[in-house]
Amino acid sequence: MQRLYRKRIVLGVGGGIAAYKSAELVRRLRDHGAEVRVVMTQGGREFITPLTLQALSGHPVHLDLLDPAAEAAMGHIELARWADLVLIAPATADLMARLAQGVANDLLTTVVLATNAPVALAPAMNQAMWADPATQANREQLLARGIRLFGPGSGSQACGDIGMGRMLEAEELARAAADCFETGMLTGKHLLITAGPTQENIDPVRYITNHSSGKMGFALAEAAAEAGARVTLVTGPVFLPTPDRVQRIDVVSARDMLAACEAAMPCDILIAAAAVADYRPEVVAPHKIKKDPSTGDGLLLQMVRNPDILATLAGRADRPFCVGFAAETENLLEYAARKLRDKNLDLIVANDVANPSIGFNSEDNAVSVIDRQQHETRFGQASKGHIARALVAFIAERYKES
Ligand code: PMT
Repeated sequence: MQRLYRKRIVLGVGGGIAAYKSAELVRRLRDHGAEVRVVMTQGGREFITPLTLQALSGHPVHLDLLDPAAEAAMGHIELARWADLVLIAPATADLMARLAQGVANDLLTTVVLATNAPVALAPAMNQAMWADPATQANREQLLARGIRLFGPGSGSQACGDIGMGRMLEAEELARAAADCFETGMLTGKHLLITAGPTQENIDPVRYITNHSSGKMGFALAEAAAEAGARVTLVTGPVFLPTPDRVQRIDVVSARDMLAACEAAMPCDILIAAAAVADYRPEVVAPHKIKKDPSTGDGLLLQMVRNPDILATLAGRADRPFCVGFAAETENLLEYAARKLRDKNLDLIVANDVANPSIGFNSEDNAVSVIDRQQHETRFGQASKGHIARALVAFIAERYKES
């Protein structure tokens, strides 16, 4: 279940007997590749020790809203922003009631209010408490606010009763968590995504390239697959695993990338996140270039223009909906808007690569998307996975309107 690979999950543990299952849940989520940070309520700590969950998650457990040391390490707002999903298991009747009312009187409820990530609850309580009209009203209210409920299941309970209220098993919860990332917005569509750098050979041992790691393009490919699209990912040389359900084509140079993209056409949407070399050496030396005393300390390389992959595909008769990226170190929006026009694009994603925390090879990104009417939509700093899911949702909407 690669859908959880590298997903950041805040696991909230409430105060119910089912808290013992949270230990297994942390293991399952991590087995599926997720990163897990645990937040425990005061009640949760009565049923299972933070030390157990710290050992299993590999990170200190977050306990208190007003703990200066914990806040200094990773504050509640940072934790809320970090999450791709907030999963609360077990969610007691009391927690459901507080969340339904928007109460933020401890760390976990505060994180829920502060996050933009999806929130899911795994209710666990006595069957009579579950059936109580107050709990059912809270359930309705939570669902109406877009909070997901996983279960509860039915069966024998710790208190001896039989009925609804059992927390789902760890593997069922892990699968339900993975399903949260499936949106279906692009079902039936073919997306062609370029990623990573290109390498342009100088001689058999040297080449010209750039700092692109491929992280942004791979995150987009993963998000597009989760949105139900058939995804072809054409990538330059990078060290990243292929996202689940994505067809990956590895290339080296800009000309290889163009040929692979042309072979993958037609597509419905093209997202060009690759950092393609604009120039390549005109001649690739057949042997390693030796230091030549007759030329002094210098070496002159004659460069020629590479084809523009994005502009070429945007100029075809079967042109897809075209989304470019603009990596700039100055005049970001102006240069991005110019590329949108010059390359005949539908949208361009402006990426400020002068800021090392959001550009090449960083874990995070922050971008602005500009459309043909020059409207700008800002996506604030978040993990590249986060940004990719938000961009794919935005692109899917604009594609449908086009
Ligand atoms: O890979 P990461 O480390 O995660 O970093 C992400 C990123 C910074 C590489 C990415 O977010 C990004 O900004 N990609 C575009 C980088 C770029 O080369 O931009 P550009 O302004 O030079 O090109 C504009 C657009 O034309 C891009 O969509 C580019 O893919 C495309 N292009 C450029 C030149 C060319 N010969 N062919 C192209 O298709």
